[in-house]
Amino acid sequence: MTPLALTAVIHALPMPVLIVGPDDRIKAINPPLTAILGGDLLGKHHITALRQPAVLDAIAVARGSTTPVIAPYTSRDGARDTIYRVVVARAEADVVLSFEDQTAAQDVGQMRRDFVANVSHELRTPLTALLGFIETLGGAARNDPAARDRFLAIMAHEASRMTRLVDDLLSLSRVEVEERVRPRENVHLGAALRSVIKGLGPQAEAAQVKVALHLPQTEETVPGDEGQLSQVFTNLIENGIKYGAAGGEVSVTLSTRTVHQRLRGEGVQITVADRGEGIASHHIARLTERFYRVDSHRSRAVGGTGLGLAIVKHIVNRHRGRFVIESEVGQGTNVSVFLPTS
Ligand SMILES: Nc1ncnc2c1ncn2[C@@H]1O[C@H](COP(=O)(O)OP(=O)(O)OP(=O)(O)O)[C@@H](O)[C@H]1O
Ligand SMILES: [Mg+2]
Repeated sequence: MTPLALTAVIHALPMPVLIVGPDDRIKAINPPLTAILGGDLLGKHHITALRQPAVLDAIAVARGSTTPVIAPYTSRDGARDTIYRVVVARAEADVVLSFEDQTAAQDVGQMRRDFVANVSHELRTPLTALLGFIETLGGAARNDPAARDRFLAIMAHEASRMTRLVDDLLSLSRVEVEERVRPRENVHLGAALRSVIKGLGPQAEAAQVKVALHLPQTEETVPGDEGQLSQVFTNLIENGIKYGAAGGEVSVTLSTRTVHQRLRGEGVQITVADRGEGIASHHIARLTERFYRVDSHRSRAVGGTGLGLAIVKHIVNRHRGRFVIESEVGQGTNVSVFLPTS
């Protein structure tokens, strides 16, 4: 193939590609690779363009090999490094280099490591507490009934936190697996909200918060998974109770179906509003990340694991809905879920 024809072929490829001729000069290069290496490199010696020993060695080895040689290549432009896996293969008298961006794969690996680290950290704290109390109960506090009762209560609290964490992780992975399949049961929203609020009664009472439900005249239903939608409402109302103002009110409003821009069609809106301390805007975008908490100390004290809103996001996505958090520090927080009615 003439250099011109080669250039035409590699220009059609989306990945960064380079061809080195028998004279070690660059015979053809495509725009994605020019964007990485920069400059006018055609006809130049490949050492001037590539500079990294691993790739240069791979070219030398590939010349004498019938199988491709793999080498890493790191491009440094400004904020972050991009790591490529370069496949160097002989093609008759030429050598072809194709670059594969490894960033996404490495990010996934990093996410997995972060996730395991987070889970371990969350479990270690209550486990350490439990071990400490078990030791005390077996020793110093063995014959002290008052201390024993107090420690058992704390132990029950820590153990139930671990159970919640495990339950939340399980429901998160279950929802993720099913996310592509839209659920189709007919869910009566008013009834679901009523029963969720009833279930949270003791918690609201303990926090001295009144939960007020506002339902429309019409009976609203959506296609969905009743258990999962109830979990969304539970998580949001529970947050309102936990982070809203003590002695205050959490209002839960279901609106009649209407056309919503956010849904590009007809749907209903469920809003949970509290008059608590609110959330600063730079936190809002991150709240649906797993384990993200504004004030992790405080959230842990109220039994939180930082998974509630991550679960909400996945369930709402599965229902093809939208999820919006609006908040003003010192004023309170409005969390709305929009669900399509068809
Ligand atoms: N209504 C709210 N008012 C103020 N802050 C809130 C509100 N809802 C959530 N947050 C903040 O967002 C964080 C994440 O909420 P999320 O529900 O995901 O986790 P959590 O409540 O800490 O734990 P979990 O829900 O798993 O028990 C909370 O820790 C809290 O800091
Ligand atoms: Mg929560």
